[in-house]
Amino acid sequence: MRSGTRHAFIVRVHGEKKLRLGVLGSGKGSNFVAIAQAIQDGSLEAEVGLVISDVAEAGLLQHARERGIPARFIAPGAFRTKLDPAAEAAFIGALHEAQVDLVVLAGFMRILKGDFLKAFEGRVVNIHPSLLPSFPGLEAWKQALNYGVKVTGCTVHWVDQGVDTGPILAQRAVPVLEGDTVTSLHQRIQEAERTLYPETLARLTQGPWMAKARPTPGT
Ligand code: GAR
Repeated sequence: MRSGTRHAFIVRVHGEKKLRLGVLGSGKGSNFVAIAQAIQDGSLEAEVGLVISDVAEAGLLQHARERGIPARFIAPGAFRTKLDPAAEAAFIGALHEAQVDLVVLAGFMRILKGDFLKAFEGRVVNIHPSLLPSFPGLEAWKQALNYGVKVTGCTVHWVDQGVDTGPILAQRAVPVLEGDTVTSLHQRIQEAERTLYPETLARLTQGPWMAKARPTPGT
């Protein structure tokens, strides 16, 4: 969030209607599976209306199809770190068509900005594999290991115009152990993600939620 601005993020609660999720991801889909599992076992009262990936062979799409959940690959266009304008419009159109209330980023590796965030203002959440504001950006577990911190973790946060800067909804700490490798640490963080994300989404179904901007430093 830009400093100095005040912004409210409110999830609209739909009475009897279940919160309808649109899940975006680029990878193997372990967070998506945890969310789908929580819905199935009744601990998360929501439904997944659509899963979209920018990667045709993403495991996430396969997991969705196995569960009978609509899943689409939408080509991201020429840019490496964001969607091109046509792709962005296609993502927005598909999510609107699926009538999703909340966009859930689950390992989506492109930055969403501008028109996308306008279309779903205050309705996009993300999970990041570190205790923000430490280690934003790519391979946060590797950044943590290289830095030498003894505790890291994962964060669920609202998405704003910055990179991993939006208001924090929930965090879970994970120890960095002697002898950890990039892989072992990432696995431990992902175990924490698999409980934190569904639990946080379940809290959002009980909303409304509001997060105020942090005060500008020095004021
Ligand atoms: C997760 O660890 C998630 O925190 C991370 O990608 C992984 C996706 O795994 N996201 C980011 O790094 C976003 N900046 P999954 O496909 O098995 O859910």
